[in-house]
Amino acid sequence: MFITESKKTNTYFDSIPDDLFAAIEDLKKELNAVILVHYYQEADIQDIADFLGDSLGLSQQAATTDADVIVFAGVHFMAETAKILNPNKLVLLPDLDAGCSMADGCPAEEFAAFKAAHPDHLVVCYVNCSAAVKAMSDIICTSSNAVKIVNQIPEDQPIIFAPDKNLGRYVSEQTGRDLVLWDGSCMVHEIFSEKKIVQLKMEHPQAEFIAHPECEEQVLRHANFIGSTKALFEYSKQSAAEKFIIGTEPGILYQMEKQIPEKQFIAAPATGNCACNECPHMRLNTLEKLYLAMKNRGPEITLPEEIRVAALKPLQRMLEMSA
Ligand code: 13P
Ligand code: SF4
Repeated sequence: MFITESKKTNTYFDSIPDDLFAAIEDLKKELNAVILVHYYQEADIQDIADFLGDSLGLSQQAATTDADVIVFAGVHFMAETAKILNPNKLVLLPDLDAGCSMADGCPAEEFAAFKAAHPDHLVVCYVNCSAAVKAMSDIICTSSNAVKIVNQIPEDQPIIFAPDKNLGRYVSEQTGRDLVLWDGSCMVHEIFSEKKIVQLKMEHPQAEFIAHPECEEQVLRHANFIGSTKALFEYSKQSAAEKFIIGTEPGILYQMEKQIPEKQFIAAPATGNCACNECPHMRLNTLEKLYLAMKNRGPEITLPEEIRVAALKPLQRMLEMSA
């Protein structure tokens, strides 16, 4: 038994080349592939990205790429979005288990009942949801365009906003609109400790606290700036401040430190003594798994065609409304 297990392990490692970066480059040419990477991925994966961005930027890239294969280093709903936009391309996700607690917290059947209870409402869904929920939506949004999109909806039109109640509350404050919110949230952004952030701000009085709108209200009220991952990155680049406390998944700190080395970045602390503000789903992807996915042409994202077609409409509306 022991020998079999150890052989298995060796076989796995034997199939991983020593120079993974070069091997991935070769496969990219062979497949005519593009590698799309979210800021929450580990550093090595960020380094091999053809495009690194937030959910909106990644959707825009997926909508316009002429590659034959999309390698998506992010979570399932992001790769699924790429597949909705590109039914004829092969879309690879290094680890199919890379899900999202927020998307999982909004099952399609329960959402159908919620929608049915508000028949005159327009449904605006955050992109962090399954294709089946997208298929029941009127417009998709991301954290970078949610305010802009809600502002374009006629004022007398009632709106359901799902699945993130924290982003929904933030959008409601910014637009002055009453939104009917689905009771969902992100396990990563919920874990930040208001008390520890306030302490940290006192220890670093020159630092600006900048945070993602998925954070809870009591955390966001201490923020000097609120925005999507891309907006946080851009803000820290152009702000006169030299030190920042970052209230989002810490993967983005790698890019901030790499591209803005003259400034200092501190990850906002979580309530426990753990690294629990790292997204456990995003971090399932590794460079090795990404290489193997390209080599094996799988795991790939597949979707029932009727769901894909229904989900495409609200996604296209988002792309039009955020242009
Ligand atoms: P962005 O819109 O900033 O990419 O956010 C994605 C996400 O999952 C945040 O948890
Ligand atoms: Fe989902 Fe939160 Fe992870 Fe983003 S950070 S993918 S919302 S669990």
